[in-house]
Amino acid sequence: MMDDSVHSPTRRGIPAPTLNVNFTLNQQPISLEVAPNAVLLDVLREQLGLGGTKKGCDHGQCGACTVHVDGQAMNACLRLAVMCEGQHVTTVEGLAREGELHPVQQSFLACDAFQCGYCTPGQMMSATALLNDARIGSDDAAVKEAMSGNICRCGAYKNILTAIQQARATLADDATSRAGEGTP
Ligand code: FES
Ligand code: FES
Repeated sequence: MMDDSVHSPTRRGIPAPTLNVNFTLNQQPISLEVAPNAVLLDVLREQLGLGGTKKGCDHGQCGACTVHVDGQAMNACLRLAVMCEGQHVTTVEGLAREGELHPVQQSFLACDAFQCGYCTPGQMMSATALLNDARIGSDDAAVKEAMSGNICRCGAYKNILTAIQQARATLADDATSRAGEGTP
């Protein structure tokens, strides 16, 4: 749903300019009008009503706003919405598939990897991206380094690490079973 505020008159009575942007959001094509300086995080939360992506620092320092853009984890507070033209954007709302939680979401639940939960969507988006990135090592130190841009004020880091490693094992098991299904 489009926010009327993007068309609201300026103080001088001149309508604020908007730009059209088209991208894929959680696997659905989307077309919307945004202010040229609209930040992706604000567009997701306020214009599109997707509140799963959290606003923490709004300055690229906490990771609460992490989304995937073309499969890469990015801070939505540092990205203009118009920069997403033609790209694939995934928010935490898009992690589950066909009513089934993503293994990372399941592991976070199983391992008590959150307390207040505010940082959790960003943590899960970074975790999912790192598990898909073959350049990042699988040892705990590599995971901690890759997750270092996500701050948890509750200090749930230990269980977050456990959850990520458990999700890694689940994903590997799933891949092995899928390969086995293709074997005659
Ligand atoms: S809100 Fe984007 S990094 Fe903190
Ligand atoms: S669980 Fe509260 S900020 Fe991380």
